[in-house]
Amino acid sequence: MPLILGLETSCDETAASVVDGGLAVRSNVVSTQHELHRRYGGVVPEIASRAHLERLWPVVSAALDQASIALTDLDAVAVGNRPGLVGSLIVGASAAKTLAWSLNVPLIGIDHVQAHLYAAALRECTVNSEQCTDRDPADSEIINHPAYPALGLVVSGGHTSLFDVASPTAMVCIGKTIDDAVGEAYDKAAVILDAGYPGGPNLDALAQRGDTAAPDAPKLPRPLLGPGSLDFSFSGLKTALLYATRGTPTGRGKARTFPREASDLSAAQRANLAAAFQLAVVDTLMAKLKRAAQRMADDGRRPGCIIIGGGVSANSLLRERVSALGETFGLQIHIPSMALCVDNAAMIAGLAHAKLAAGQVDDLTLPVIATTAVGLA
Ligand code: KG4
Ligand code: ZN
Repeated sequence: MPLILGLETSCDETAASVVDGGLAVRSNVVSTQHELHRRYGGVVPEIASRAHLERLWPVVSAALDQASIALTDLDAVAVGNRPGLVGSLIVGASAAKTLAWSLNVPLIGIDHVQAHLYAAALRECTVNSEQCTDRDPADSEIINHPAYPALGLVVSGGHTSLFDVASPTAMVCIGKTIDDAVGEAYDKAAVILDAGYPGGPNLDALAQRGDTAAPDAPKLPRPLLGPGSLDFSFSGLKTALLYATRGTPTGRGKARTFPREASDLSAAQRANLAAAFQLAVVDTLMAKLKRAAQRMADDGRRPGCIIIGGGVSANSLLRERVSALGETFGLQIHIPSMALCVDNAAMIAGLAHAKLAAGQVDDLTLPVIATTAVGLA
């Protein structure tokens, strides 16, 4: 089966992976830059691209070592070339072009958002072995021969989008956020609640210690944007959390003052606020998934399964509720293992196999593009 090296440098993870036949993850190396960006409370693009430059070759070497292969064993090189931070994308794309050219193998540019919806298909293998763990091999078979069309949901730091998925390489966006992405809202909510960086996982952990039925738990809005809308909006929910945490402000702009700080609250109060936020977010995502499934069915494209991907698919409550939804509606749910929810290069190399099989390869003029492709946005 073709061995494909994938590279991922779109944001703040430098990642390389070798995937065999589009299914078996032979190695998955991710060097996160969280420690570099923590003090700024978010990703600083220039710092990110410099760190990719320093880390990419050690990460590629480690991925080849873990897969027990040499560069010359590779059948293709794939790279996430859109969307993302342009300076960061350039580092990965330049490296991928150099490798593909020098090895004389195909170069395959991959859309990062599409790749998130491929992650659930992958089987993680124990190092240096064909033996796969964690994923049921049947899952991979199902996603590669799934009951298409599928309903896809990408929930990440940059996207909250619903897709009508015709195949791993063909999908149309049917709903998206009109303001913050859900991961971004999580990260900002974590700042409001002093939950630390990276925000999403910390807020999730805090929420698990909270109680949404506590007398002091706030009732936060579920932003549904009117009947039938498949779009999302999280900025109002974020403001509602801010006011619930710090009280209603007086004054405007720079003169705005709040009656209290998050640090004035007890640990239990902060946990209850985090739990209320998490419940409001997940209720909203679930409502939209149901609407989207209904819309597809009404359009004669009843989904055969639901595929979820992106960093927020690591969220404990979302995973629980999505599984329950699948059982209620008798729909297969494909959700990545925890390691493959956040940014990684295995999803890049995996999807590249489908593109290679379809003859969709690129040449050395492959551009990097900051934005999402038309149809995917
Ligand atoms: O897919 P990803 O790694 O990068 C992008 O493509 O954006 O997603 C990162 C996002 C961040 O906003 C992070 O806070 C969020 O995923 N995230 C979570 C959890 N783990 C990561 N959000 C909520 N709960 C989590 N457990
Ligand atoms: Zn991502």
